[in-house]
Amino acid sequence: MVISNLLLLPGDGIGPEVMNEVKRIVAWFNARGAGFELEEDLVGGCAYDAHGEAVSDATMDRALAADAVIFGAVGGPKWDRVPYEVRPEAGLLRLRKDLELFANLRPAICFTALAESSSLKRDLVEGLDIMIVRELTGGVYFGQPKVITDLGGGHKRAIDTQVYDTFEIERIARVAFELARKRNNKVTSMDKRNVMKTGVLWNEVVSAIHQREYPDVTLDHMLADAGGMQLVRAPKQFDVIVTDNLFGDMLSDIAAMLTGSIGMLPSASLGLPAAGTGKRRALYEPVHGSAPDIAGKGIANPIAMIASFAMALRYSFDMGAEADLVDEAIAATLDEGLRTGDIATPGTTKIGTAAMGTAIIDKLDRLSA
Ligand code: IPM
Ligand code: MG
Repeated sequence: MVISNLLLLPGDGIGPEVMNEVKRIVAWFNARGAGFELEEDLVGGCAYDAHGEAVSDATMDRALAADAVIFGAVGGPKWDRVPYEVRPEAGLLRLRKDLELFANLRPAICFTALAESSSLKRDLVEGLDIMIVRELTGGVYFGQPKVITDLGGGHKRAIDTQVYDTFEIERIARVAFELARKRNNKVTSMDKRNVMKTGVLWNEVVSAIHQREYPDVTLDHMLADAGGMQLVRAPKQFDVIVTDNLFGDMLSDIAAMLTGSIGMLPSASLGLPAAGTGKRRALYEPVHGSAPDIAGKGIANPIAMIASFAMALRYSFDMGAEADLVDEAIAATLDEGLRTGDIATPGTTKIGTAAMGTAIIDKLDRLSA
């Protein structure tokens, strides 16, 4: 049996609640011969409370050594006033940066059973299956300088820097083209080349890689604002969307609502394949945040978290069949009319976090019998 080491970082708010359901799914696979070993550690506000920083060096060492990191959510009003450098989100950003997780895969799939929960009409979203590929370690999130300076006389100046190098655009474009080849063979690249130099370079580099290495894939370019509009006008026109860190952050929240609820969207953040083993560093997290307003009530939707673990099975452990099984179990649970509050509609049965986990495990039992 291959032993795989998972580092669980549940974080704050609903993070620990939804992570509990992942632990049960892991136990289900372990009982059937998988060799997942779990470690757990602090990140975000809870790490700040314990150590005065959003992620400790010791936790970073464990993350670097793990086969995959499974991350819940960070942040909440309790930490609104902590210094910027140690705010909860800094923990997540350090993990992404230090593990060099430059490729963030955010699939937006609309389950048929959930088409009613979307803010868009059923025919626009039913059967939706798009993949947003977001650059995750560059751009305005990390560019320097990033400061607020005092100009005197009560005036201040804030600077963020949007910066992209050729190699950063090339490697994220490759991820998008490779994924497209396994899907519907179409990539839409989004930038703001009408306003930003980074957009000009982005466009140029994506086009060059396309011509040189992926001429068989269809490539379209769209301005990112128009892309946002098209996402809510006719989302099914897209297959793979590739875009920078900030636009990807915004466009993936938009895409989340198409699927019915942000509580449904998983994500995978991947590094480059290691020389020799070909194994990529990886972190898996739901797109949703810590939802402090509903934390501790046992009502959060664990599906994005569980689907993130399914992505770990697929992308880190070569367990595609098992990942499919988890996704099918989620779909079957929804087909049965079971819903957490965020996706409940008239005529469906509202259940809590743990009951949703139990229902999904029941389906795993049934589908694998
Ligand atoms: C996301 C989140 C993060 C981001 C926050 C929590 C720093 O919104 O993963 O989409 O902006 O990347
Ligand atoms: Mg976001």
